[in-house]
Amino acid sequence: MIRPFFSEACVRIAVLLLAAGPGLRAQPADTPVSSYLPVNGEEPAAKLLLRLAREKPARMQSHRAYLAERYDLVDGPAAGGTMSRGKPLQGGVRARLAPGVTWEMLAALTPAEIRARDIFPAGFRPLPHPHHAEGGMLFPAFVIDELQRQEQRDLARVDLDFDLPDHFLPEFPPAIFLTTRPDLGDVSQGRVVTLDNYFALFNGILNPKQLEGLRLLLTPFPQQQFNSTDDRRSDRPSRGVACLDCHTNGHTNAATHLAGDARPQAFRHRVDTPTLRGVNIQRLFGSQRALKSVEDFTEFEQRGAYFDGDTVIAVKKGANVLERGSQVHAMAEMQALFDFPPAPKLGVTGRLDPAIATAAELRGQALFAGKAQCATCHAPPYYTDNSMHNLHTARFFAPRPERGAITTADGPIKTFPLRGLKDSPPYLHDGRLLTLADTVEFFNLILGTRLTADEKADLEAFLRVL
Ligand code: HEC
Ligand code: HEC
Repeated sequence: MIRPFFSEACVRIAVLLLAAGPGLRAQPADTPVSSYLPVNGEEPAAKLLLRLAREKPARMQSHRAYLAERYDLVDGPAAGGTMSRGKPLQGGVRARLAPGVTWEMLAALTPAEIRARDIFPAGFRPLPHPHHAEGGMLFPAFVIDELQRQEQRDLARVDLDFDLPDHFLPEFPPAIFLTTRPDLGDVSQGRVVTLDNYFALFNGILNPKQLEGLRLLLTPFPQQQFNSTDDRRSDRPSRGVACLDCHTNGHTNAATHLAGDARPQAFRHRVDTPTLRGVNIQRLFGSQRALKSVEDFTEFEQRGAYFDGDTVIAVKKGANVLERGSQVHAMAEMQALFDFPPAPKLGVTGRLDPAIATAAELRGQALFAGKAQCATCHAPPYYTDNSMHNLHTARFFAPRPERGAITTADGPIKTFPLRGLKDSPPYLHDGRLLTLADTVEFFNLILGTRLTADEKADLEAFLRVL
């Protein structure tokens, strides 16, 4: 299907309409674009929450229909592949093609031709938040249930549910590997670490400063949607959100959010929670922001990201300003202990051990370093160059308003490490790619490498063992 083109002027008008953040949406289109969120609500809280709850079913239904247009969402495990604790990997390319188009046809066209015919797969464009104009932290149902059970803390939103099906998300609870105690293997004991059990699980394994860091990472603090003011999205006033509510067990549960970095609202990127495994070997933090230390990112999360990047609203809702010496350092030290999961087929240099790797994996490794060009940016042993790159995705499609977002150029994005990759779907900063096979097709177009079907399968086999 050839979709109509959107002119730059049309996008500009849409920007004005969509620019306003939460609470401003009902205002006329000539409302000045502002960097700030409104401080006072326009509707009494009880009435607002009731209205949002009433709107929720229709909103989720239309968003799920949109996802079904972008992707094949069926639960279809890949033969043989599992995450570290056994959850099956999903198989196959899930981004849908326009009718009559094949992956081979697409790869034979130039980016300009793909753009002119508007046949870049919709699932390869930026993924909007389920309610982009509103945004905010949003948790999968299994996370909400577990925290409710352990801590009687409710992270359900009255206005929204998480959107992607569970089979595309990381296993829950994920394993925990410690850089300081590799001899112990997975120390999670199959549990979600919370304030309720962290001491019993880690006393005697961590030092006192790390234990204090872990306690702080598990302590809820107010944020934009979960707080005790009238401007919240939880049914009842909330104690807030802890770091490891999203970074469960130092990994990720795919909770989503909008990055605080851009204005207006429609240009903010949806962000899929990245794993904290391997932050010890990384030098840049945040997909767009490139903060230079885990300490800086830890401070920024609670001062800025928790409040959608608005320092004014943070004062109203109760920002928790962390003390650098006694709190931030302890939290950062703890984060640096979360190790990548074991990759038994990789040797000390991060390359396959030919004695145990399969022929397909070895061919995949050769492609990764050769024809497929991946190693240019994803250098072993951790498969990152600790830098940012602009993949120029917008060569392939015209910018357009899409469900409250403007889907347009991504800009420079951090090269996420590929070690432990199989454990952290969905992929890319916004989670737009659902499977490893999707990432292979995506980069085949982005890099213009024209891989054959066999080469794509080999490359995927290699990605699974990283
Ligand atoms: C709503 C879920 C959520 C909560 C709660 C949360 N984070 Fe994050 N975290 C994210 C997302 C999403 C990103 C990616 C942000 C981006 O790309 O700009 C991120 C990024 C990070 C990063 C950088 C990782 C990287 O690979 O670049 C660190 C470090 C981090 N968070 C630590 C924390 C700490 C410490 C806290 C508590 C103060 C916290 N997070 C609370 C979702 C969350
Ligand atoms: C020019 C540098 C560059 C090259 C070459 C490159 N990548 Fe990447 N890769 C990136 C960047 C930057 C990101 C983050 C993009 C985003 O999140 O929007 C990324 C993200 C990924 C991700 C998702 C990681 C995650 O945790 O979400 C996968 C998988 C991946 N690349 C695989 C590959 C493969 C396979 C190849 C070769 C076919 C490849 N990349 C080539 C820079 C590169």
